[in-house]
Amino acid sequence: AAGLFHSGLLAGKRVMITAGPTREALDPVRFLSNHSSGKMGYALAEAAIAAGARTTLVSGPVTLPIPEHAQYHPVESAAEMLETCLRLVSECDIFIACAAVADYRPEQVQGDKIKKNDAEMLLKLVRNPDIVSAVAAAEPRPFTVGFAAETRDLLAYARDKMQRKGLDMIIANDVSDQGIGFNSEENEVTIVCGQTEHALPRASKTIIARQIIEAIANSSGK
Ligand code: CTP
Ligand code: CA
Repeated sequence: AAGLFHSGLLAGKRVMITAGPTREALDPVRFLSNHSSGKMGYALAEAAIAAGARTTLVSGPVTLPIPEHAQYHPVESAAEMLETCLRLVSECDIFIACAAVADYRPEQVQGDKIKKNDAEMLLKLVRNPDIVSAVAAAEPRPFTVGFAAETRDLLAYARDKMQRKGLDMIIANDVSDQGIGFNSEENEVTIVCGQTEHALPRASKTIIARQIIEAIANSSGK
Protein backbone atom coordinates (compact mmCIF):
# COMPACT_ATOMS: atom_id res chain seq x y z
CA ALA A 1 0.00 0.00 0.00
CA ALA A 2 1.08 3.58 -0.63
CA GLY A 3 1.36 4.29 3.08
CA LEU A 4 4.01 1.59 3.40
CA PHE A 5 6.21 3.17 0.73
CA HIS A 6 9.82 2.33 1.52
CA SER A 7 12.48 4.84 0.70
CA GLY A 8 15.53 3.04 -0.63
CA LEU A 9 13.48 0.72 -2.87
CA LEU A 10 15.42 1.97 -5.90
CA ALA A 11 18.68 2.89 -4.17
CA GLY A 12 21.56 2.87 -6.69
CA LYS A 13 19.21 2.58 -9.69
CA ARG A 14 19.09 5.10 -12.52
CA VAL A 15 15.61 5.96 -13.76
CA MET A 16 14.67 8.02 -16.83
CA ILE A 17 11.11 9.31 -17.21
CA THR A 18 9.42 11.15 -20.10
CA ALA A 19 6.59 13.48 -19.16
CA GLY A 20 4.19 16.09 -20.50
CA PRO A 21 3.10 16.78 -24.06
CA THR A 22 5.28 17.43 -27.08
CA ARG A 23 4.91 20.45 -29.35
CA GLU A 24 5.14 20.01 -33.10
CA ALA A 25 5.97 23.27 -34.83
CA LEU A 26 4.00 24.56 -37.81
CA ASP A 27 5.86 27.84 -38.16
CA PRO A 28 7.84 30.12 -35.81
CA VAL A 29 4.75 31.02 -33.76
CA ARG A 30 2.43 27.95 -33.96
CA PHE A 31 2.42 24.30 -32.93
CA LEU A 32 0.25 21.18 -32.55
CA SER A 33 0.07 19.71 -29.07
CA ASN A 34 -2.29 18.12 -26.51
CA HIS A 35 -3.68 18.71 -23.02
CA SER A 36 -1.21 16.56 -21.05
CA SER A 37 -0.42 18.35 -17.77
CA GLY A 38 2.69 16.31 -16.98
CA LYS A 39 1.36 15.59 -13.47
CA MET A 40 1.65 11.79 -13.69
CA GLY A 41 5.22 11.88 -15.02
CA TYR A 42 6.33 14.46 -12.47
CA ALA A 43 4.69 12.43 -9.66
CA LEU A 44 6.64 9.39 -10.91
CA ALA A 45 9.87 11.41 -10.84
CA GLU A 46 9.15 12.52 -7.26
CA ALA A 47 8.39 8.91 -6.27
CA ALA A 48 11.55 7.58 -7.96
CA ILE A 49 13.66 10.22 -6.20
CA ALA A 50 11.98 9.39 -2.88
CA ALA A 51 12.82 5.72 -3.53
CA GLY A 52 16.49 6.61 -3.84
CA ALA A 53 16.89 6.48 -7.64
CA ARG A 54 19.09 8.84 -9.65
CA THR A 55 16.30 10.30 -11.71
CA THR A 56 16.38 11.92 -15.15
CA LEU A 57 13.26 13.76 -16.29
CA VAL A 58 12.86 14.42 -20.01
CA SER A 59 9.92 16.78 -20.17
CA GLY A 60 7.82 18.55 -22.74
CA PRO A 61 6.50 22.02 -21.89
CA VAL A 62 4.45 22.00 -18.65
CA THR A 63 3.78 24.48 -15.86
CA LEU A 64 4.88 22.26 -12.96
CA PRO A 65 7.86 22.93 -10.69
CA ILE A 66 10.96 20.87 -11.53
CA PRO A 67 11.33 18.08 -8.93
CA GLU A 68 14.21 18.73 -6.59
CA HIS A 69 17.21 16.45 -7.28
CA ALA A 70 15.99 15.48 -10.77
CA GLN A 71 18.35 15.75 -13.77
CA TYR A 72 16.09 17.88 -15.88
CA HIS A 73 16.08 17.88 -19.70
CA PRO A 74 13.44 20.17 -21.19
CA VAL A 75 12.42 19.33 -24.78
CA GLU A 76 9.74 20.48 -27.21
CA SER A 77 9.18 18.11 -30.13
CA ALA A 78 8.95 14.31 -30.27
CA ALA A 79 12.15 14.29 -32.36
CA GLU A 80 13.97 16.21 -29.63
CA MET A 81 12.55 13.94 -26.91
CA LEU A 82 13.71 10.87 -28.88
CA GLU A 83 17.19 12.30 -29.39
CA THR A 84 17.58 13.10 -25.68
CA CYS A 85 16.29 9.68 -24.57
CA LEU A 86 18.58 7.77 -26.97
CA ARG A 87 21.57 9.90 -25.91
CA LEU A 88 20.95 9.01 -22.24
CA VAL A 89 19.55 5.46 -22.53
CA SER A 90 22.86 3.71 -21.84
CA GLU A 91 22.98 5.52 -18.49
CA CYS A 92 19.65 4.23 -17.20
CA ASP A 93 18.43 0.97 -15.64
CA ILE A 94 14.73 1.76 -15.82
CA PHE A 95 12.82 3.81 -18.42
CA ILE A 96 9.26 5.00 -17.88
CA ALA A 97 7.46 6.54 -20.89
CA CYS A 98 4.77 8.75 -19.44
CA ALA A 99 4.84 11.53 -22.05
CA ALA A 100 1.85 12.17 -24.28
CA VAL A 101 3.95 12.23 -27.44
CA ALA A 102 2.23 13.76 -30.47
CA ASP A 103 1.58 10.89 -32.89
CA TYR A 104 2.02 13.16 -35.94
CA ARG A 105 3.88 16.34 -36.83
CA PRO A 106 3.45 18.78 -39.72
CA GLU A 107 5.37 17.48 -42.72
CA GLN A 108 7.01 20.86 -43.17
CA VAL A 109 7.89 23.53 -40.66
CA GLN A 110 7.53 26.91 -42.37
CA GLY A 111 10.41 29.29 -41.80
CA ASP A 112 8.12 32.30 -41.82
CA LYS A 113 4.76 32.81 -40.18
CA ILE A 114 2.02 31.29 -42.32
CA LYS A 115 -0.26 33.97 -43.82
CA LYS A 116 -4.01 33.42 -44.05
CA ASN A 117 -4.31 33.61 -47.80
CA ASP A 118 -7.14 31.22 -48.64
CA ALA A 119 -10.52 30.20 -47.23
CA GLU A 120 -9.19 26.71 -46.59
CA MET A 121 -5.83 25.31 -45.68
CA LEU A 122 -4.74 21.69 -45.88
CA LEU A 123 -2.19 20.46 -43.40
CA LYS A 124 -0.20 17.32 -44.15
CA LEU A 125 1.02 15.42 -41.10
CA VAL A 126 3.59 12.63 -40.90
CA ARG A 127 4.05 9.99 -38.19
CA ASN A 128 6.42 10.69 -35.34
CA PRO A 129 8.95 8.07 -34.23
CA ASP A 130 7.92 5.89 -31.29
CA ILE A 131 10.21 6.81 -28.40
CA VAL A 132 9.45 3.96 -26.01
CA SER A 133 9.84 1.38 -28.80
CA ALA A 134 13.23 2.83 -29.71
CA VAL A 135 14.37 2.71 -26.08
CA ALA A 136 13.11 -0.87 -25.67
CA ALA A 137 15.14 -1.84 -28.77
CA ALA A 138 18.36 -0.23 -27.49
CA GLU A 139 21.34 -2.38 -26.53
CA PRO A 140 21.72 -2.74 -23.61
CA ARG A 141 18.09 -2.02 -22.86
CA PRO A 142 16.66 -0.70 -19.61
CA PHE A 143 13.64 -2.25 -17.88
CA THR A 144 11.07 -0.46 -20.03
CA VAL A 145 7.64 0.69 -18.88
CA GLY A 146 4.96 2.32 -21.02
CA PHE A 147 1.51 3.76 -20.48
CA ALA A 148 -1.60 3.02 -22.50
CA ALA A 149 -4.40 5.58 -22.39
CA GLU A 150 -7.56 3.99 -23.76
CA THR A 151 -11.27 4.77 -23.83
CA ARG A 152 -12.36 1.15 -24.52
CA ASP A 153 -11.05 -2.44 -24.44
CA LEU A 154 -8.44 -1.19 -21.98
CA LEU A 155 -6.55 -4.37 -21.14
CA ALA A 156 -6.63 -5.85 -24.64
CA TYR A 157 -5.19 -2.67 -26.20
CA ALA A 158 -2.68 -2.29 -23.36
CA ARG A 159 -1.41 -5.87 -23.78
CA ASP A 160 -1.18 -5.34 -27.52
CA LYS A 161 0.91 -2.19 -27.01
CA MET A 162 3.14 -3.93 -24.48
CA GLN A 163 3.89 -6.66 -27.02
CA ARG A 164 4.27 -4.45 -30.09
CA LYS A 165 6.59 -2.01 -28.34
CA GLY A 166 8.65 -4.68 -26.57
CA LEU A 167 7.85 -3.43 -23.05
CA ASP A 168 8.43 -5.16 -19.72
CA MET A 169 5.43 -3.49 -18.09
CA ILE A 170 2.53 -1.31 -19.16
CA ILE A 171 0.33 0.95 -17.08
CA ALA A 172 -3.20 0.69 -18.48
CA ASN A 173 -4.99 3.97 -17.99
CA ASP A 174 -8.76 4.17 -18.46
CA VAL A 175 -9.46 7.65 -19.80
CA SER A 176 -13.12 7.08 -20.71
CA ASP A 177 -14.29 8.67 -17.44
CA GLN A 178 -14.03 12.48 -17.39
CA GLY A 179 -12.32 13.59 -14.22
CA ILE A 180 -9.59 10.96 -14.17
CA GLY A 181 -6.48 10.52 -16.24
CA PHE A 182 -5.25 12.95 -18.80
CA ASN A 183 -5.48 16.35 -17.16
CA SER A 184 -6.73 15.71 -13.63
CA GLU A 185 -5.43 15.20 -10.10
CA GLU A 186 -6.56 11.59 -9.83
CA ASN A 187 -5.97 8.47 -11.84
CA GLU A 188 -7.15 4.87 -12.04
CA VAL A 189 -4.77 2.35 -13.58
CA THR A 190 -4.05 -1.35 -13.94
CA ILE A 191 -0.42 -2.48 -13.83
CA VAL A 192 0.21 -5.19 -16.44
CA CYS A 193 3.48 -7.12 -16.20
CA GLY A 194 3.92 -10.44 -17.99
CA GLN A 195 0.76 -12.46 -17.34
CA THR A 196 -0.12 -10.61 -14.13
CA GLU A 197 -2.59 -7.74 -13.82
CA HIS A 198 -2.91 -5.56 -10.77
CA ALA A 199 -5.80 -3.05 -10.69
CA LEU A 200 -5.20 -0.09 -8.38
CA PRO A 201 -8.13 1.77 -6.84
CA ARG A 202 -8.66 5.37 -7.97
CA ALA A 203 -6.31 7.65 -6.08
CA SER A 204 -4.22 10.80 -6.36
CA LYS A 205 -1.41 10.73 -8.90
CA THR A 206 1.09 10.93 -6.02
CA ILE A 207 -0.21 7.69 -4.52
CA ILE A 208 -0.55 5.95 -7.90
CA ALA A 209 3.04 6.97 -8.73
CA ARG A 210 4.37 5.39 -5.53
CA GLN A 211 2.52 2.17 -6.25
CA ILE A 212 3.90 2.08 -9.80
CA ILE A 213 7.45 2.69 -8.54
CA GLU A 214 7.00 -0.08 -5.98
CA ALA A 215 5.78 -2.49 -8.68
CA ILE A 216 8.73 -1.55 -10.92
CA ALA A 217 11.19 -2.07 -8.05
CA ASN A 218 9.69 -5.51 -7.41
CA SER A 219 9.72 -6.57 -11.09
CA SER A 220 12.91 -5.01 -12.44
CA GLY A 221 15.41 -6.55 -10.04
CA LYS A 222 15.83 -9.88 -11.84
N1 CTP B 1 4.83 6.72 -26.97
C1 CTP B 1 6.13 7.06 -27.34
N2 CTP B 1 6.36 7.67 -28.55
C2 CTP B 1 5.34 7.94 -29.39
C3 CTP B 1 4.01 7.61 -29.02
C4 CTP B 1 3.80 6.99 -27.80
O1 CTP B 1 7.07 6.80 -26.57
N3 CTP B 1 5.59 8.53 -30.55
C5 CTP B 1 4.63 6.03 -25.69
C6 CTP B 1 3.82 6.80 -24.67
O2 CTP B 1 4.67 7.59 -23.86
C7 CTP B 1 3.19 5.67 -23.88
C8 CTP B 1 3.00 4.56 -24.91
O3 CTP B 1 3.89 4.87 -25.97
O4 CTP B 1 4.06 5.16 -22.90
C9 CTP B 1 1.61 4.43 -25.46
O5 CTP B 1 1.17 5.67 -25.96
P1 CTP B 1 -0.26 5.73 -26.68
O6 CTP B 1 -0.49 7.10 -27.21
O7 CTP B 1 -1.27 5.12 -25.73
O8 CTP B 1 -0.03 4.66 -27.85
P2 CTP B 1 0.24 4.80 -29.39
O9 CTP B 1 1.25 3.73 -29.72
O10 CTP B 1 0.61 6.19 -29.78
O11 CTP B 1 -1.12 4.36 -30.03
P3 CTP B 1 -2.53 5.16 -30.15
O12 CTP B 1 -2.31 6.60 -29.74
O13 CTP B 1 -2.90 4.99 -31.59
O14 CTP B 1 -3.48 4.42 -29.21
CA1 CA C 1 -0.61 8.07 -29.26
